[in-house]
Amino acid sequence: MDENLTEYLSSNKTIIQVVLRDYLQKLDIPTQLKESMLYSVEGRGKRLRPILALASYEAYSKDVVTKVYSSAVALEMIHTYSLIHDDLPALDNDDYRRGELTNHKVFDEATAILAGDALLTYSFEIISNDPLLKDNQKVELIKRLSHSSGPSGMVGGQLLDLRAENNPITLEELENVHALKTGELVNFAIFAGAFLGNATKEQLSHLKQFAYYLGLIFQVQDDILDVTGDPKKVGRPVGSDVENEKSTFPKILGLEGAIQKKSEYVNIAEEALRKADAQDSQLMALTHHFSQRDH
Ligand code: IPE
Ligand code: IPE
Ligand code: MG
Ligand code: MG
Ligand code: MG
Repeated sequence: MDENLTEYLSSNKTIIQVVLRDYLQKLDIPTQLKESMLYSVEGRGKRLRPILALASYEAYSKDVVTKVYSSAVALEMIHTYSLIHDDLPALDNDDYRRGELTNHKVFDEATAILAGDALLTYSFEIISNDPLLKDNQKVELIKRLSHSSGPSGMVGGQLLDLRAENNPITLEELENVHALKTGELVNFAIFAGAFLGNATKEQLSHLKQFAYYLGLIFQVQDDILDVTGDPKKVGRPVGSDVENEKSTFPKILGLEGAIQKKSEYVNIAEEALRKADAQDSQLMALTHHFSQRDH
């Protein structure tokens, strides 16, 4: 990987983790709930969504990046909640996440459900209370984040994803599942940064297109890793998609076809980024990183 990008990812990951920890540590709540929230948030996540939010801001503004932190950590909390619930027996029934036992395996199911609920709701409180944001910015961010996480976004996508198990779907349907399940939160990351960085309406509209394809690139690579990845690097067993009869890009297109599709998505994403005047930002390097990642 490009040395600059390695440094960019690792320094921003550290910042995000410090801010995440601060927001959770200051909560005066039942110990069991706090421990369960901290357990999942402090796992070995890549922090890609918050890093995207920071990169998106920096593509448009040279001002201090701290005003994106609340949106970035709120997003990572919602992502973490989605993973805690996704791993529950009623959904994917997974025992490992981010290389460690899943939340409900360490705590109990009830605590895991509540830790997820708590992360979801706390994230909106964090944005509402950020003294660096103007009221109209808070309203816009909360509106977008709730849309992206809710029935028209991630939650809707999760339902479609579950329904697609043992139930073959077309490529278009698969793209729609991922656009909702994964793409919407990626879209929020890109939007939040660019919006706070004062991108124009036209730039925001090209970024929406960029984020859609970035979400698909991320997901097609996730599916490819489930076929070819090293479980030690991926942080969970591989091969589970085939075992669970999941609809995936390699299943619909074959492994070679999935790799080909990924490069088509990369081309469209790059073009959208150029139209959004962000071709020289870290967003470009991150796009390539997403398409080549091994974990
Ligand atoms: C995993 O997301 C869930 C998907 C949407 C495929 P990540 O691969 O970003 O997971 P972490 O946050 O790094 O653990
Ligand atoms: C993860 O989806 C949860 C969300 C994106 C909401 P998956 O079930 O596809 O991801 P993994 O394979 O468990 O990480
Ligand atoms: Mg799932
Ligand atoms: Mg899962
Ligand atoms: Mg997967």
